[in-house]
Amino acid sequence: MLTLGIETSCDETGVALYDGDRGLLEHRVYSQIATHAEYGGVVPELASRDHVRKTLPLIQELLHGARIARSEIGGVAYTAGPGLVGALLVGAAVGRSLAWSLGVPAVAIHHMEGHLLAPLLEPDPPAFPFVALLVSGGHSQLVEVAGLGRYKLLGDSLDDAAGEAFDKTAKLLGLPYPGGPELARLAEQGDSGRFRFPRPMTDRPGLEFSFSGLKTFALNTLDAVRREEGEISAQSRADIARAFEQAVVETLVIKCRRAVKQARCQRLVLAGGVSANRRLRAAMTEAMQKEGVRTDYPRAEFCTDNGAMIAHAGWLRLKAGERSGLGFGARPRWPLEEMRPPGGSGEW
Ligand code: KG4
Ligand code: ZN
Repeated sequence: MLTLGIETSCDETGVALYDGDRGLLEHRVYSQIATHAEYGGVVPELASRDHVRKTLPLIQELLHGARIARSEIGGVAYTAGPGLVGALLVGAAVGRSLAWSLGVPAVAIHHMEGHLLAPLLEPDPPAFPFVALLVSGGHSQLVEVAGLGRYKLLGDSLDDAAGEAFDKTAKLLGLPYPGGPELARLAEQGDSGRFRFPRPMTDRPGLEFSFSGLKTFALNTLDAVRREEGEISAQSRADIARAFEQAVVETLVIKCRRAVKQARCQRLVLAGGVSANRRLRAAMTEAMQKEGVRTDYPRAEFCTDNGAMIAHAGWLRLKAGERSGLGFGARPRWPLEEMRPPGGSGEW
């Protein structure tokens, strides 16, 4: 079934076409970075308005690029949550009404399910079961994945998500939004031996995360350096970025090692925006190799928000017979543990 996927949960409009036989045919992402940059973060109302402007033209561009006629679409998948309510409603309204007008089924997709299945879009995809580390702007979670919709939460974030900690620390360092990739770039020039940040919650058992203390640690380090140097040098900023990144990466590696042992699982999947981080990917792959665990992650463009992961998750659910009713809605807060294997029809 040729499935159109629509992602509008935050600040990216993503659309894609996924087909059971031919795989991913085409995808497009429109990033709203330029819209939000001057405010230093996502402005929800501006995000919704931009999705209103961009979603339909982007779908048209997608179909044109793939040389696919609208009538060939066999199903429509849209992100229904979690995310910004106004932004979600745009994708849900477009997706649901498009499906209705074409006379094809629609399915509401959980954004984090899209992320955690994104590594399956790669050649030689990992088989179930696996442990997934979901690290994005809103989530840091460890999930045991037995199959589609069979998720057991192993650990969650107690405060700031990993991506949020990257973004907030980047802001302290005077970097523009979105901070994560900017901080990672700055860290390339940093000396890893100069500062040592804590590895939060690794000194006790458990799989919970807490990253908000790292931001405070960065602030205090900046203050100390400022007292010493007056103006903070470019090298000091890079050294702080490096120490912060190192602390997040090592903390995630320690928790993942624990998680695969606890779940007795030989496969680990990284997903979500922060999994685009090169040091995280390299350190995790090396650490897991030592444990005999295979590590998979999506190509960089499918780590951050995109339509391909939604088209793919939608295709899996539609193929299994799941159908959404004629109503639609958005679930800004939608715990991943509420997901179930595909089945029946959901009323929205
Ligand atoms: O999955 P995503 O695109 O959106 C959400 O669902 O939240 O994740 C965005 C997050 C942002 O916090 C961004 O700063 C972070 O992922 N991010 C990174 C990198 N690329 C994106 N963090 C660290 N290193 C990166 N290379
Ligand atoms: Zn996301």
